[in-house]
This record gives sequence, C-alpha cells and structure tokens, in this order.
Amino acid sequence: MRNRRAAFAATATAVALALSLTACGQNSEGGSEEKKGGPEGATIGIAMPTKSSERWIADGDNVVKNLEAKGYKTKLVFGEDEPDQQVSQIENMITQGVDALIVAAIDNKSLNNVLQQAADADIPVISYDRLILGTENVDYYASFDNEKVGELQGAYIAEQLGLADGSEKGPFNIELFAGSNDDNNTRYFFQGAMNVLQPYIDKKQLVVRSGQTELTQVTTLRWDGATAQRRMDDILTKSYKSETVDAVLSPYDGISIGILSALKSDGYGTRSKPLPVITGQDAEVASVKSIIAGEQSMTVYKDLRKLAKVASDMVDALLNDKKPEVNDTKTYDNGSKVVPAYLLEPVAVNKDNYRTALVDSGYYKESDLK
Ligand code: GAL
Repeated sequence: MRNRRAAFAATATAVALALSLTACGQNSEGGSEEKKGGPEGATIGIAMPTKSSERWIADGDNVVKNLEAKGYKTKLVFGEDEPDQQVSQIENMITQGVDALIVAAIDNKSLNNVLQQAADADIPVISYDRLILGTENVDYYASFDNEKVGELQGAYIAEQLGLADGSEKGPFNIELFAGSNDDNNTRYFFQGAMNVLQPYIDKKQLVVRSGQTELTQVTTLRWDGATAQRRMDDILTKSYKSETVDAVLSPYDGISIGILSALKSDGYGTRSKPLPVITGQDAEVASVKSIIAGEQSMTVYKDLRKLAKVASDMVDALLNDKKPEVNDTKTYDNGSKVVPAYLLEPVAVNKDNYRTALVDSGYYKESDLK
C-alpha cells in the first residue's frame, strides 16, 4: 500500500488503521515514506455513470485496458444513473485506498463532498468526458470539444435543409432537444448547435412550432430516450396538426431513438410524410444501423479509445510526478477554477462516411453494423 493512501485509510476505520500501520511498518525505515512513482502497486478507481448506454461500458473497458497495459490495477464501477449511488461508490474506493480517480459524473454538482475526501487523502481526480462543477478538487479534464459537437449537429441540419451559403429557403419546422440538465456538457452541445441555428430562427427560416427554444425547456433528464419520446409525442400532438416537422436537433443517439419512435408512431417515415433530418451523438451501434437504414440522419462520432488513452495518460503522468499533456487551459471553468483540459476532435458521421470513419478506423467491424 502506498503510504499516502495508508495514511488516509488510518483515519477511515480502526481496521484500516491497523492495516495501514502494518503496511507502513513493513515499508518504512523509521521515517515517513515518500510517495512511490509509477504503477507499481497502484490502483486506479474508475467511476462511470451508467451501463444503460453502450458508450459508457466501452469507456470503462477502454480505460481499464489502457491502465492495465501500463501496469496499474483498476476498480471499475457503474452508477446506474443514480447520483447518490455514485457518491457512495467513490467513497468506497477512497476508503479502499485507490491512488487516483477517473470520474464521469452523473450529476456534476453532487460530488463536492466526496471529492473533498479524495483531496484530503491526496488522491488526484480526472474528470472524464463531463466536467465536475463547483469544486477545486478536480485536477484535469479529459473530453472532446463539446461546443464543436453541437456545431456539427447544427451545421448538418442547416446543410440538409439547404439553408447554408446564404440561401433564403424556408420556413422549415424544427424542434430542439438537449441533454440532461445536470450534465455540464449539455449547455456546450446546445450552445454549439444554437450558434449555427439561431440566426435562421431569427430570420424565420427555421420555426420552432412548440415555442420551446430555451435550454431549460428542452433538456432531457439523464439523457433518457423514453423521456424524449414522450416530449416528442406531446409536441406532435399539440403543435403539429397538418404541418410536419422538417428537422429535430437531438444531442445524443439514445434520445434520437426515442424521438424516432414518436415520429414513426405519428406516421412519419413514408413517402408522403418522410422522417425529418435528425441528429445524434456517440455513434452507438443502434444509431449507426438506423443511419444506414436511412432513419437517423447523422451522429457525432467521438473516438472513445482516444479519450480513454488521454485520461489514462493523465493519471500515469500525475502518479509519476509529471505534468499531464493538455491543449486547453481556458474553456472549462467549473465555478471554482479553470480545469486544464485535453479536448479531442469530434467527427460528423452520416450514411456517406460511416465506413471510413467507423469501420476503416477499426472502431466497429462491418459485421457489427449489419
Ligand atoms: C454526455 C456525453 C455524450 C453522451 C451523453 C449521454 O455527457 O458527452 O457523448 O454520451 O452524455 O450518455
């Protein structure tokens, strides 16, 4: 057991105290031990938000693979989208003496107390994909350019409707969906999309018939597809009688699938009533299949293998007293500090380029998409 972990465990329980003293006694030469660098004996705690979406399962697997390849041990937990459960899982890992934490938060503001415990135990924390807010106790942030994700979605809609390049076309009907309001990424995705779409709304080339245009009106708690489906059902019933929807901004594949179900139940998907342009994110298998089948229009692919590598490299650097590589030190202010970040590039994927982007890159096998 590394000494700084042992010291923390000593404060946790009497049993831990006894164990940690034994560990210290074996390793020290009478004085206080120095922190050991590198993977030797170190365990990394990884807290993922849910297993209900395949992406987080892949994230968990990828991070474990990367860390094990560097010689670390890992503890991987999933929080079932319950913030309290995630807090107690992280608490447990701290008590068990992990050496660093990689956390994809369920609720970005629920972790302040538990991350204080991590800081008191000298455990570095990497915020994974989603920025944790309102605490000093986040060391680094590994993610994608989240605003760009939204811009790619907005730009795809504008292009497909023929609005780009100063065309006067329209008006087209659009409905807007955003992610979970407790996920910091949500406002970046929405902002990015609205950077592109708002000028067309202002010029009335795009019309939001439901009138729901504010972020607070369009969020989808916990990114839940069924919740999005109910909202789309409701919008279609109330705001579309003889009119049809031409585009739907959806921030995430699971939400897109829910919206598509609502649309199909309302008779969309025929020659006389074609499906609207509908965006997504994560390139989940079901959505890539839907894209190939001509239903969902696009998704934003984020190579999770790269994200896992960035986060694992950050941990490895920190535990070796090196500075992790970052490429953004300005954008991600969490309310307590600007968290240094490494942001990867998202890629727009549609029927035309899915093979190059997803299959040729080895992300999926062609057979996964049949
Ligand atoms: C976000 C993430 C998206 C998507 C969503 C729902 O935080 O950036 O890629 O996975 O959660 O899981």
